[in-house]
Amino acid sequence: KILILDFGAQYTQLIARRIREIGVYCEIWAWDHDPADIARFAPKGIILSGGPESVTEANSPRAPQTVFDLGLPVLGICYGMQTMAEQLGGKVEGGHHREFGYAQVSAALDCGLFRGLVSDAPNAPELGEGESWMGRQGDNTVVEPVVARVALDVWMSHGDRVTALPPGFVAAGRTDSLEYAAMADEARRYYGVQFHPEVTHTKQGAALLRRFVVDLCGCATLWTPANIIDDAVARVREQVGTDKVLLGLSGGVDSSVVAALLERAIGEQLVCVFVDTGLLRWHEGDQVMATMARNMGVNVIRVDAAERYFAALAGVEDPEAKRKIIGRLFVEIFEEESAKLTDVKWLAQGTIYPDVIESAGAKTGKAHVIKSHHNVGGLPEHMKLGLVEPLRELFKDEVRRMGVELGLPREMVYRHPFPGPGLGVRVLGEVKPEYVELLQQADHIFIEELRAQNLYDKTSQAFAVFLPVKSVGVVGDGRAYEWVIALRAVETIDFMTAHWARLPYEFLEHVSRRIINEMRGVSRVVYDISGKPPATIEWE
Ligand code: XMP
Repeated sequence: KILILDFGAQYTQLIARRIREIGVYCEIWAWDHDPADIARFAPKGIILSGGPESVTEANSPRAPQTVFDLGLPVLGICYGMQTMAEQLGGKVEGGHHREFGYAQVSAALDCGLFRGLVSDAPNAPELGEGESWMGRQGDNTVVEPVVARVALDVWMSHGDRVTALPPGFVAAGRTDSLEYAAMADEARRYYGVQFHPEVTHTKQGAALLRRFVVDLCGCATLWTPANIIDDAVARVREQVGTDKVLLGLSGGVDSSVVAALLERAIGEQLVCVFVDTGLLRWHEGDQVMATMARNMGVNVIRVDAAERYFAALAGVEDPEAKRKIIGRLFVEIFEEESAKLTDVKWLAQGTIYPDVIESAGAKTGKAHVIKSHHNVGGLPEHMKLGLVEPLRELFKDEVRRMGVELGLPREMVYRHPFPGPGLGVRVLGEVKPEYVELLQQADHIFIEELRAQNLYDKTSQAFAVFLPVKSVGVVGDGRAYEWVIALRAVETIDFMTAHWARLPYEFLEHVSRRIINEMRGVSRVVYDISGKPPATIEWE
């Protein structure tokens, strides 16, 4: 396994995902995590991430000395390279200009990190200027080439740069404007790259990371969905023995994968409670039962709670108040149901790795809370159950691959995210059953068409919103005065910022026509063209 020390870069999670994709387990720890734990964790190599600060400033973060005392291979990326250079006796200076975006690195093929890579540009010279394939030719015998070079397309984002290498290091890569785009100390297996191998714009980034973790650190590539499942199954069996385990099933990816996994691990010992709030998507409650209970054989208790939700939400317009009611009611119902069960000892949860990463960014508290995200499935504190969290170490893409491997339908596993409060925050203002029903129909038409036109996977999230305003229209010969549906589709990587999806006009027209023609009660469809920020993805 590999340890990644995080200096607060926005790409740190990407490094971890790339390494997991290679098939090697890794964890992300904040740079100031207790160094004593590092030896205990026993990684085969350490990666120092990028970060927003400057090594040239006093009190900026440094790697703990342990990193260089353990005799392990170390790879510094961007800030990680700079702090490594500075800590080992080199020099870093503030650049005169920031370098951001594409660059071509001419990298030395005799460097452990770049060995075996082939130039990205088809006609790129493999040799640096003035360099010879022939090496020294003192006595006219041809010896091995000294420096062969490979041209790599990379992605840069930095202000500072290394200006003097620490003792023991050689320059291993350069660009037109950067002398030390990469550095290496082969004896100690220390490497630094100024560019970002973890982003896909760096074409051979994955190959380079593979060189480091597999060839230089000697990690085996055993982190595959099948192995992850076997491992998780064994661990759950060991953890819970013959006890019963309770799980709140929401229909979302994480809880469904937990259910499928626990079904495989402990079968009948698993009891799922599925609270159908009446605020789910079109026929979603039935689909959850069909997939999980009927096809996968999971033990599911369905609670039809729609009426209770509508009663509790009657007259409530404020979005935050609605979220609180929906969240509280879930806990109430979940507790009522679990009180009926005997000898349950454990509560399973679909917590995933991004929820638990102790990242440097999290500590600085930079992320602001814009909305209270009440996830359905919160733990009632006084229940005194032990926790089973089999996805705790996994990224979302790993959870999805695991779901497919466990036999869940691809459609379910790769579904767009859906907010915990469901349609409760997509019917603006007061939630009424008739509004929810209209919204479900319109949303279903929109999603069905996105799938039919192969646009579903090209958008990150798409849905309809019910606007409780009436607008005038003409239907047949008559005047209609009916509700408005808004369509929202966004493209985003992390849901923190998002662009509205440029869906084709013809497509939007078709969906609009279908909604107005096939549904009673809607006379107008609008498309949301606001980005995030300033708008949020949801309307409430
Ligand atoms: P916003 O609207 O804040 O949404 O741009 C970002 C992402 O979060 C989802 N979302 C929620 N998820 N409970 C959730 O579990 C919530 O209350 C909630 N509100 C928004 C939203 O669907 C989008 O994916």
